[in-house]
Amino acid sequence: MTRRPEGIRGATITGTGMYVPDRVLTNADLANLVETSDEWIVERTGIRERRIAATGQASSDLALIACQRALEMAGVDASEVDHIILATTTPDRILPSCACTLQQKLGATRAAAYDVFAACTGFVFGTGLARGLIGSGLADTVLIVGVETLSRIVDYTDRNTCVLFGDGAGAAVLQPCEPGAGLHAVDMHSDGELGEVLEVPAGISRNPASEHTVAAREHFIRMQGKKLYPFAVRSMGEATLRCAEAAGWTPDEIDLFIPHQANLRIIEAVRERLALPPEKVHVNIDRYGNTSSASIPIGLDECVRAGRLKKGDKLCMAAFGGGATWGASSMTWTLPRARAARPAATPAAAKQAVS
Ligand code: ACO
Repeated sequence: MTRRPEGIRGATITGTGMYVPDRVLTNADLANLVETSDEWIVERTGIRERRIAATGQASSDLALIACQRALEMAGVDASEVDHIILATTTPDRILPSCACTLQQKLGATRAAAYDVFAACTGFVFGTGLARGLIGSGLADTVLIVGVETLSRIVDYTDRNTCVLFGDGAGAAVLQPCEPGAGLHAVDMHSDGELGEVLEVPAGISRNPASEHTVAAREHFIRMQGKKLYPFAVRSMGEATLRCAEAAGWTPDEIDLFIPHQANLRIIEAVRERLALPPEKVHVNIDRYGNTSSASIPIGLDECVRAGRLKKGDKLCMAAFGGGATWGASSMTWTLPRARAARPAATPAAAKQAVS
């Protein structure tokens, strides 16, 4: 758990943005590919549809649009960004990093850009890093983006996983703020003992790509969903409670909770653990499925633009994911509603991507 030490300057979110591809993959579409049904998927996961990147559309393309929208809301030019932290499990390529590709596309010429691999907890980990950079004075403007094209590593012959995942990107700009506002606590944890519960077995140094790995479908996600379920509920609940306590709040004082969207039943179980009413918990899993590192910033941007957050609101965000990784954050919202609550402009890149 990292609390903000006395005397360190604060960090807050000054802009958000999201982008999801146009193509919709419904439960009915999946029922044509594997032995499943809309009824099973909705009852066990809450998912009705998910978005799939177009052929040729890579993670950096999705991230670019989300970032342009976040920068526009913050009133920040790309050339002013000091660090780009890109959280993903599905970079464009292993080399160069997806963050460097994004940096070039954005024209963020002075930014240090790097990828963070923390699966679905990537945005929370990025928030912790950004807070440290801003708090210590190493950076003034940090752009965090969670982006996934999970459809590229999903096995559409495996009904255990193919119904769960979707593509998308969400971004946030973090900048300094007065002490006592903005981020209060960021809780970040990992447990490598749980590594094999969710993995892509082949492709890099342990098991390099070969004819055998391709034939054995080892470049796709494999998951032991049942083992993840109780871990997810416990870890997200406990991390959120720690962050609320560090901010000096009781759980019932939380105005908005944005959990990682992995399964509606997990979200409901965490909500019950925190004793929060449904209207305080943001849910969009029905429309996007599990977008891993993108799920929290997508949810955040939806809430911001819908006017669901006003200055002074107490916000908690929490995630768990492969690795295993988990964490949460607590922040007092600082962005005036009038500045944030409007539809995203469509940058040229978005027009190009959907045409
Ligand atoms: N359609 C129909 N039947 C299915 C499907 C499907 N899509 N998927 C599995 N089944 C079957 C199974 O084969 C099994 O059949 P069997 O009893 O004959 O063996 C049966 O349904 C029950 O399967 P369970 O795994 O017990 O189903 P469960 O209720 O646990 O739901 C699920 C599975 C949705 C994966 C759930 O365990 C879950 O959500 N776990 C957490 C997963 C998760 O959070 N993953 C991502 C975490 S990290 C990240 O976000 C990247």
